[in-house]
Amino acid sequence: MKRTKTSYKLLELLSDGDFHSGEALGQSLGITRSAIWKATQQLDQYGITLESIPGRGYRIPHNIDLLKEQVIQKELDNTAQNSLSNLIVLDEIASTNDYLLELQAKNKDKNIACFAEYQTKGRGRRGRRWVAPFGTNIYHSLLWHFKKDPAEIVGLSLIIAIATVNALKHYGLKDGITLKWPNDIYWNGRKLGGVLLDMIAEHHGYCSVVIGVGINTYIPDKHAKQIDQPWVDIQHITNLPPRRNQIAGLLLNEIIHAILTFEEKGLEPFIKAWRNLDNMIGKNVSLHTSSGEIKGIMDDVSNKGELVLLCENNEKKRFFSGEVRLRLDKGK
Ligand code: BTN
Repeated sequence: MKRTKTSYKLLELLSDGDFHSGEALGQSLGITRSAIWKATQQLDQYGITLESIPGRGYRIPHNIDLLKEQVIQKELDNTAQNSLSNLIVLDEIASTNDYLLELQAKNKDKNIACFAEYQTKGRGRRGRRWVAPFGTNIYHSLLWHFKKDPAEIVGLSLIIAIATVNALKHYGLKDGITLKWPNDIYWNGRKLGGVLLDMIAEHHGYCSVVIGVGINTYIPDKHAKQIDQPWVDIQHITNLPPRRNQIAGLLLNEIIHAILTFEEKGLEPFIKAWRNLDNMIGKNVSLHTSSGEIKGIMDDVSNKGELVLLCENNEKKRFFSGEVRLRLDKGK
């Protein structure tokens, strides 16, 4: 990837964590010291405030692991590498999902993976915004072409959430991770990541999907107040600077392996794993759907990936979509 903006080039020079004088930085980038200062102000807006000491220069106060295609590629196993036509790392994009949705029309038979350092219009589920500051989290999308009807890939979001948990466990997050149907990733009750699927329906047994995954690896204070729910990031959990390239590679490996299993065997091999990770089964919940709110006890997840809700008169109702919220009142 070729970095174009001065602020990103500056960041790349500083990503070794050492001090660099304004003069040396200016020389490397072929710009004046005042242009370097302007670029530092731009970085400040992205949430990266540089340490500046007279006589020594500038330094990034916290370790920053900028994403690099070659490094992520090295993390991929053969199966993952062979399944992809392309792996793209972008500095800045509106949304990685939207980017691949645009690419798909010209890439009908290519599976493409994309990571971005920064999203200006990151999207969450149900039309929400996904806070996506520069260089600190994982914003990932994967364009995948299934030889299945759209109806056959219901449940895909569950397997992507499970794959994300597996990647986090390989990274070293052993305890505390749970899932909320259909695809929210939590750590001790606080949101750690989420999945957003954009389906491109086709016909005659084909459909393409853009699979988006966001993982909080480090949310700078400046951006934390924009998040409207309890959240957590990997830096907080491990007390160490996150190794983002490694997380990116593990994530892509796990997602691709999960998709290949799903293509061959369907959802069934994943259901047991889901039940073990689900944090709502047995609890009083309300399900918010486009047609209203339904109260009940979360009974199970069916073999088709539906939410099974135990409602009034012990009637079990099944749902394919909606948002589950915990209820503190007890009535069904
Ligand atoms: C959720 O609401 O929990 C889903 C969040 C999904 C965020 C990811 S970040 C990469 C991809 N691009 C987007 O615009 N959204 C998804």
